[in-house]
Amino acid sequence: MVLKGKVAVVTGAARGIGREIALLMARQGARVVVNDYGGSEVGQGAGSAPADEAVADIRKAGGEAVANYDSVASMAGGQRIVQTALDSFGRIDIVVNNAGILRDRMIFNMTEEEWDAVINTHLKGSFAVTRAASPHMREQRSGRFINMTSTSGLVGNVGQANYAAAKLGIVGLTKVTALDMARYNVTANCISPFAWTRMIGTIPTETEVQKARVEKIKKMSPAHIAPVAAFLASDFAKEVTGQIFGVRGKEIMLFGHMRPIMRVHHAEGWTVERLAEMFPGTLQHHCVPLETSGQYFNYDPLV
Ligand SMILES: NC(=O)c1ccc[n+]([C@@H]2O[C@H](COP(=O)([O-])OP(=O)(O)OC[C@H]3O[C@@H](n4cnc5c(N)ncnc54)[C@H](O)[C@@H]3O)[C@@H](O)[C@H]2O)c1
Repeated sequence: MVLKGKVAVVTGAARGIGREIALLMARQGARVVVNDYGGSEVGQGAGSAPADEAVADIRKAGGEAVANYDSVASMAGGQRIVQTALDSFGRIDIVVNNAGILRDRMIFNMTEEEWDAVINTHLKGSFAVTRAASPHMREQRSGRFINMTSTSGLVGNVGQANYAAAKLGIVGLTKVTALDMARYNVTANCISPFAWTRMIGTIPTETEVQKARVEKIKKMSPAHIAPVAAFLASDFAKEVTGQIFGVRGKEIMLFGHMRPIMRVHHAEGWTVERLAEMFPGTLQHHCVPLETSGQYFNYDPLV
């Protein structure tokens, strides 16, 4: 049991990927706060039953868990979620920022409400729980943050400007959390998962490309993601921080980071004309093609 004695908060843990992570962490000995506000896949409504069911399943399997029904999307919610761990189990060692919704729309039609709902759930929600947990981890000189990003941000996807912006924002949040907390033995990493869940069921499948992408995702189980999260939460991964792991069926990937891949220098400085002359033979060769996640990950998953 690699997580014996640890206390984990998993947000959005009533369903999909979060539920599998909560179940596996409990099987590995962690005491788990199952956070879920129980709303719809587009972020409406609320209820306690979904989180209660996940807690019951953990207890049935011999694990320890309590439910929390707060939304991650406010600072007060983040505080209450972390307080649930402290009140129930006396400490907090692991935070999995997993709660999520989708509100897909083309950029020229996206509303302020659709933008705010997605940014607030994913990006602000990850900040809110991280902000509440990090002083405790700093104090105890140990901890783990595991944040969910997406190839919708890392690669790109049509109709997901809000979601892509939030998910790349989470990469920045994770990187700086890793830097700020390094001296306290606290790590922060991202997982970019692929799995068939309720959320993915909301992706519009109007075009052939969208249909093909969703058909491939249907083959992948959220259970594939959980071992990577539990590994990152364990002492085995104490040196692993600031990284992005992709999990697609039985495949695990390590993503690269934003670094210059080519530099050009002109002794007299650049003018528009000089740049126009040099660009095609230099930087242009290294421009990354405009692709969606589904076009890039276009092979059948290994499941
Ligand atoms: N499934 C995939 O292929 C995929 C791909 C990339 C990223 N992700 C990410 O993985 C995470 C989990 O997604 P999933 O596919 O399991 O979706 P899901 O819809 O099955 O589960 C998400 C859960 O989060 C909960 N939730 C939503 N908003 C909340 C809030 N404000 N407060 C508390 N709980 C809230 C929901 O009630 C739901 O139970 C998300 O962050 C998602 O963006 C998933």
